[in-house]
Amino acid sequence: MDSTSTVSTASSDGATTRSAARVGPSMVRKRPGTAGPGVQQQETGATSAKDQLLALTSPISDQLHQVEKRLQSELKSRHSDLEPVLQHGTQLGGKRLRPALLLLVGKALGGLKEDHVVLGTVVEMVHTATLIHDDVLDQAATRRHVATVNARWNEHTSILIGDYLFAQSFRLAATLSSTRACQLVGEAARLVCEGELRQVLSRDILNITENEYLQMIRGKTAELCRVSCELGAIYAGGDDAAIRSLGHYGDALGIAFQIADDFLDLWGNDQTVGKTLGTDIEQGKMTLPLIRLRDTVGQSEWSKISDILRGPINDRLPRIMPILQCSDARAYTQQVAESYKKQAIDALDCLPEGASKKALTNLACFSVSRRF
Ligand code: IPE
Ligand code: IPE
Ligand code: MG
Ligand code: MG
Repeated sequence: MDSTSTVSTASSDGATTRSAARVGPSMVRKRPGTAGPGVQQQETGATSAKDQLLALTSPISDQLHQVEKRLQSELKSRHSDLEPVLQHGTQLGGKRLRPALLLLVGKALGGLKEDHVVLGTVVEMVHTATLIHDDVLDQAATRRHVATVNARWNEHTSILIGDYLFAQSFRLAATLSSTRACQLVGEAARLVCEGELRQVLSRDILNITENEYLQMIRGKTAELCRVSCELGAIYAGGDDAAIRSLGHYGDALGIAFQIADDFLDLWGNDQTVGKTLGTDIEQGKMTLPLIRLRDTVGQSEWSKISDILRGPINDRLPRIMPILQCSDARAYTQQVAESYKKQAIDALDCLPEGASKKALTNLACFSVSRRF
């Protein structure tokens, strides 16, 4: 999204140049008319993204490295044939946003401990579990620049690997001396599932309100960001006011992040993003751009658009995009994301000035300006 952020990102081409693919029960399909990314291109995109994230999270680079090592060790199995599938989803990327939030908040409050590394690993495993299950729901073929578990193996494997990661994350959280983290992560995971479930149940329902949309994305995406920030603060000895403010930062950042994700699903480039795009319309999800379009066109125009949204899956995106381009849906979506970004940054007032606060500010900017 256009942004005044201090973070430099590749500019959007604003065009639908994706080569998105999704999987059906027994096939992997490329969207027609676009070539799939070459290996060279994938590596280049992933490498520059990685550099950008490393710069954003430099105050906690050592601890993020420890989270990586811990993830590797948590995903080892006595059955060697399980390891490729267990480690597949965490291997090649993933922005590690939630551990970064947890560690930066802990560092900003001056009290990073070993428990933060454990909890960073916990939230990343919970997140990865939700992604593996989400890719089944969305029939997605690509995630983190590689084939999804459902595309490379099958849906049964995805269900079980997701469950395995949930179980392993709670086992790890239970190794801490207090049960507080387990309770908080458990509640956040429940709310993520609630958000995903509400979205699944509202598929093809075209009259959901902007407020209902915001509640759903708060559950499915912002809760895990919020709890990551709260845990970072709690385990650094932050007081109640700081825990509350930082929880608010995580919530607002998470909402901005998901709005940007829904923007990228329409206007992103899947070679840069590294995952299958275009699935929201295909799966009947009403995201903010479509909600805005509905709320600003006349009734007869909306009735024609509804027919497209209920029509053949492969026709929806090519027919909706030109209509969206002629509306203010794109600009409005950016504007709403920006307003949550601002709320997130304002919530950082409780922190002392320093490199960690600056990094948290930049992460809020990245959440809306990101291209991956
Ligand atoms: C993807 O999350 C799912 C959403 C909440 C939009 P990320 O964009 O953080 O995924 P990874 O971890 O970087 O792959
Ligand atoms: C789901 O939202 C986010 C989760 C909580 C798993 P999306 O379906 O938009 O996420 P992506 O685009 O597949 O990463
Ligand atoms: Mg999805
Ligand atoms: Mg998405």
